[in-house]
Amino acid sequence: MSAPGVVFRARALARRYRMGEVEVRALAGVDLDIGAGELAVVAGPSGSGKSTLLHLLGGLDVADRGSVEFEGRDLAALPERERTLVRRRRLGFVFQAFHLVPVLSALENVEWPLRIDGVPAAECRRRAAEALAQVGLAERTAHRPDRLSGGERQRVAIARALVHRPAAVLADEPTGNLDSATAAAVVGLMESLRRELGTTFVLATHDPALVERAGRRIRLSDGRVVEDTGAGAAP
Ligand SMILES: Nc1ncnc2c1ncn2[C@@H]1O[C@H](COP(=O)(O)OP(=O)(O)OP(=O)(O)O)[C@@H](O)[C@H]1O
Ligand SMILES: [Mg+2]
Repeated sequence: MSAPGVVFRARALARRYRMGEVEVRALAGVDLDIGAGELAVVAGPSGSGKSTLLHLLGGLDVADRGSVEFEGRDLAALPERERTLVRRRRLGFVFQAFHLVPVLSALENVEWPLRIDGVPAAECRRRAAEALAQVGLAERTAHRPDRLSGGERQRVAIARALVHRPAAVLADEPTGNLDSATAAAVVGLMESLRRELGTTFVLATHDPALVERAGRRIRLSDGRVVEDTGAGAAP
C-alpha cells in the first residue's frame, strides 16, 4: 500500500513495444511517488517515455514489468469496469491529440464526463459552461471542434479534463499549441485548482514556462528518470 498522501506510486515500471523484430524500451524501470496537490512536470526529449509514463499512471496502458498504484490501488489489477469508473471519476486526461467528439459542440464535449456519470442535465450545462469560461472560451460554447482553432480545441480538452473535479489530472503537452497569454491562464487555472482543491497534476511538457512554475520536476531520458527535484514538496 502507498503511504498516506501519495497519489501515484510507480515501482520498477517498465514498458516495451515490439515493432516486428525491433523492440523499443519506452520505459526502463521508473520509481516515482507523486503526492496529493503536487504540480509535477515530466520533461525530457522526444521519445524519452513521457506519454508512455502518463498512460501507465492513468491505467490506459499496462506495464510489462513493475507496478503502479493510484490512490493506493493497483489499477492494472482491477476489473475493467472498476478501472473505467476510477478513471472517469477520479482522473482527468488531456492527450496530445485532444480526442474531442467531432459531432458535439464545445459545451457538449465538456459536459460529457458529467453526463456519463449521471449528473442532471441542467447541472452538466452549468458546470461545463463555467469550465469553458475558466479557459477563456465563454464565447465558443456552441462551436464544434472543426470550427475551433488548435489552441481553442486544446482548451476545450482542458475544460473537459477538469469539469468533474478529478483528484488528479494527467496532461500531455497541455500548453503546446497555446499562445503565451492563454498558456499562462491555463497554468494559473491549474495552480488555483491545486491550491484550492488539492488537485494533483502530472504534466508532460517541453514548455519552459510550465517547467518554471512546477514544484516538482522529473526528467526522463531513454525511459529512465535522470533528474527528480522538489519531491514531496506541495506548498
Ligand atoms: N504504440 C507504440 N508502438 C511502438 N513504439 C511506441 C509506441 N508508443 C511509443 N513508442 C515508442 O516508445 C518510446 C517512448 O515514446 P513516448 O511516446 O512515451 O515518448 P515521449 O517522451 O512522449 O515523446 P514526445 O515528446 O515526442 O511526445 C519512443 O521510442 C516511441 O517511438
Ligand atoms: Mg509524448
